[in-house]
Amino acid sequence: MTSRSATRILLAALQIILSPMLLGCWIESRLGAGERWFGACAELVSLLPGWPGSMVRKAFYRATLRGFASRAYISFGALIVHRTAAIGRNAYIGPYSIIGAASIGDDVKIASRASILSGRRQHEVGGDGRADAAPRLSEVSIGEGSWIGEGAIVMANVGCNSIVGAGSVVVRDVPDGVTVVGNPARERRDPEELRSHSAAVGQEGARAWRR
Ligand SMILES: CC(C)(COP(=O)(O)OP(=O)(O)OC[C@H]1O[C@@H](n2cnc3c(N)ncnc32)[C@H](O)[C@@H]1OP(=O)(O)O)[C@@H](O)C(=O)NCCC(=O)NCCS
Repeated sequence: MTSRSATRILLAALQIILSPMLLGCWIESRLGAGERWFGACAELVSLLPGWPGSMVRKAFYRATLRGFASRAYISFGALIVHRTAAIGRNAYIGPYSIIGAASIGDDVKIASRASILSGRRQHEVGGDGRADAAPRLSEVSIGEGSWIGEGAIVMANVGCNSIVGAGSVVVRDVPDGVTVVGNPARERRDPEELRSHSAAVGQEGARAWRR
């Protein structure tokens, strides 16, 4: 028996053990009754340690999320809070990370304690200055091969093969193949690139660039 088919059998067995939880999630979803039961189950499975815990999370999320590809890994303490999320092949979600209504591409690596929110305007602020209690979820997508650093907060899309530095706050879409850092996250340019940019736009342009 190959290790792939052994994993498949193990996941099927775990889904049988988890069936009361999964049935509750299915009924809740069919009735359009929110995500309370789903959320409680997700919190419970997040607390199981080590490799056995990761297999239980895999079995749970494969049965409940919009998409959960094979060989994705959800670490201890990590939570996926909306079942509209989709997790790609070989994706890694680090310990204590929180994933909202997001589409996580293949080979994405998310370090510990990162948050991928459900867009920037989950709770609109009304005329009275108060945040609206009813959430409006919009999907945030993290493109294939990107790396989200420790403790980053991402509320806009990230392209493919990009890097979000540790502790950065992404408020605007990040294109493919760049590194962004800081709050708000901005593209990090190396000094050589800055010098050639200055030469290209002249002194006046360079001053504007530095502002
Ligand atoms: C983003 C990162 C990859 C950048 O690496 P790099 O390209 O080698 O960048 P450098 O170290 O040369 O730093 C370049 C500039 O960006 C700044 N910078 C780097 N990372 C930063 C971050 N996370 N937040 C804010 N500024 C940052 C540096 O201070 C430096 O600024 P300066 O030019 O004004 O001195 C790295 O700093 C990082 O954040 N890695 C994530 C680590 C992590 O999360 N590990 C968890 C385990 S998976």
